[in-house]
Amino acid sequence: MCGIVGYIGKREAYPILIKGLKRLEYRGYDSAGIALLKDDIFLYKKKGKVSDLESAIADSPIQGNIGIGHTRWATHGEPNDENAHPHQSSNGKFTIIHNGIIENYARLRDKLIKKGYSFKSETDTEVLVNLIEYIYLKETMSAEMAVRLALTKVEGAYGLVVICNDEPDTLIAARKGSPLVIGLGQGEYFIASDATPIVEYTKNVIYLNDEDIAVIKTDELQLKTIKNTPIKPAIKELTLDIGEIDKQGYDHFMLKEIYEQPRAIADTFRGRIYRDCTDIHLGGLQQVWGDLEKARRIIIVACGTSWHAGLVGEYLFEEFARVPVEVEYGSEFRYRNPIIYKDDVVIAISQSGETADTLAAIRIAKENGAKVFGVCNVVGSSITRETDAGVYTHAGPEIGVASTKAFTAQVTVLTMIALKLANHKKTITTEKYQELIKALNEIPEKIEKALALNEQIKLISEKYKDHSNAIYLGRGFLFPVAMEGALKLKEISYIHAEGYPAAEMKHGPIALIDENMPVFIVATKDSSYDKIVSNIREVKARNGVAIAIITEGDTVIKDIADHIIEVPETPESLAPLLTVIPLQLISYHIALMRGCNVDQPRNLAKSVTVE
Ligand code: AGP
Repeated sequence: MCGIVGYIGKREAYPILIKGLKRLEYRGYDSAGIALLKDDIFLYKKKGKVSDLESAIADSPIQGNIGIGHTRWATHGEPNDENAHPHQSSNGKFTIIHNGIIENYARLRDKLIKKGYSFKSETDTEVLVNLIEYIYLKETMSAEMAVRLALTKVEGAYGLVVICNDEPDTLIAARKGSPLVIGLGQGEYFIASDATPIVEYTKNVIYLNDEDIAVIKTDELQLKTIKNTPIKPAIKELTLDIGEIDKQGYDHFMLKEIYEQPRAIADTFRGRIYRDCTDIHLGGLQQVWGDLEKARRIIIVACGTSWHAGLVGEYLFEEFARVPVEVEYGSEFRYRNPIIYKDDVVIAISQSGETADTLAAIRIAKENGAKVFGVCNVVGSSITRETDAGVYTHAGPEIGVASTKAFTAQVTVLTMIALKLANHKKTITTEKYQELIKALNEIPEKIEKALALNEQIKLISEKYKDHSNAIYLGRGFLFPVAMEGALKLKEISYIHAEGYPAAEMKHGPIALIDENMPVFIVATKDSSYDKIVSNIREVKARNGVAIAIITEGDTVIKDIADHIIEVPETPESLAPLLTVIPLQLISYHIALMRGCNVDQPRNLAKSVTVE
């Protein structure tokens, strides 16, 4: 999940590359590097952040109107200077940046070693650039042809850009599995893993599809397949606005995105929920309601936080639309040889729209004849182009690696789909349908109220920042929220945390409870309220520390728990949208107090484009 950028044009490439890499740093921040071509290649790469690279070459005379840059998330070879990109071929003729994994690199490397090649790094990418050189030197051909032939020999995923010293006016870009976007300027072109480094220069972009290759000169762009079939470029206009990808005064993207949730949810149902809250219109599913109504089963595939949103979806679809639902991890579903019926509907949930395991699960579902719909946040992403229909979450760009507003926007979309399907199938009354639409419409305001508790939540977080374990509990619709709360704490504070259905405690985890174990309990008023109150009593009976998210005015839990955080009343099916807010803030404050990098937590990246 690296970030790659490229530029060719009349401007100085260096500032464009550095700025672009900073925009993409959420995709990987183990090392960074650039290469510019002016008479000769200037290449510099370094372990660490883009800012480390910048200060390391601050005094170097860097020039050139053609260049490439890379920020790395290490897969093959530890984060160090040698394994950083760009990589050069043995005789320095080719320079490459690559996002993805060449799965058969070891076999290719052994073949190249027999041909006299040696390698400076442990990376799969250096094998690819040497393969390109090897093919190029075998007989007279263009650099583009050498790249194409090499790519027909590799297995795996790539988004890459190549410079050849023999063709100093050309960039060669190719994609398979990993995302790549080309921005079209006046006599200049911008290449990047996503649109965030491009939007400030142009709104006109081309999204490369799998096995596309682009040969780019300052005044010309040629698009073809790696099998040499010409392609007519499909130019799209970006809807992204540069302001959306700035912190706008917040200390961190994660905090900004937590506070953006009222707007993100309102934008997600704007133009979809009728003003008078009498109905819902989802244009992206207009042609496929029949498939959903007739669905024998709904299979939700996703990873990480999106999988937790899928879990909430399971409760929503079964509760309201009375259709059986299975929630599958993309990575397990793709290799489990799953049983898929033609009248199954698969819903793929992904913020980035680029998660490799979810993409692969989609392809398997389609191969087995199921209809596949997407819930995505990134326009033009691979999942949106590979699904039969879908609904965009309008959360806006999510830069913080820990997903927050995308989760609540995904749950909002799943709620609208489940309610609309229930209305289609008449499994709920029109009164209930409209009552729930009205309650959903009130959620942004209620989230504002939950956000207003930030200072109180900060004080509670202070007390538990030095603990090394935590447990999260919830029942029904709130069980997935407990899972999500635990994931947030794990991924940004590095505290070991587990989420459980509260009743599962007695089957083992309760052994972990003592005075050193903070237990976060999601316990707003719902059909299993009395049960969760007993679970809190069980925690207290073992001297555990109970921090409860409760409904405003609840006095029962107030008397039992060590700390309470009150959120506004709402129907239990919508409570995940409110109760997750305090858990997001708790993880944010604890991580900050522990000196962690909340926007770029260690070992993680925003979009997992390799398996
Ligand atoms: C969540 O905070 C993480 N960033 C991660 O679990 C993420 O949800 C997962 O990688 C799925 O990403 P997607 O929604 O872009 O597919």
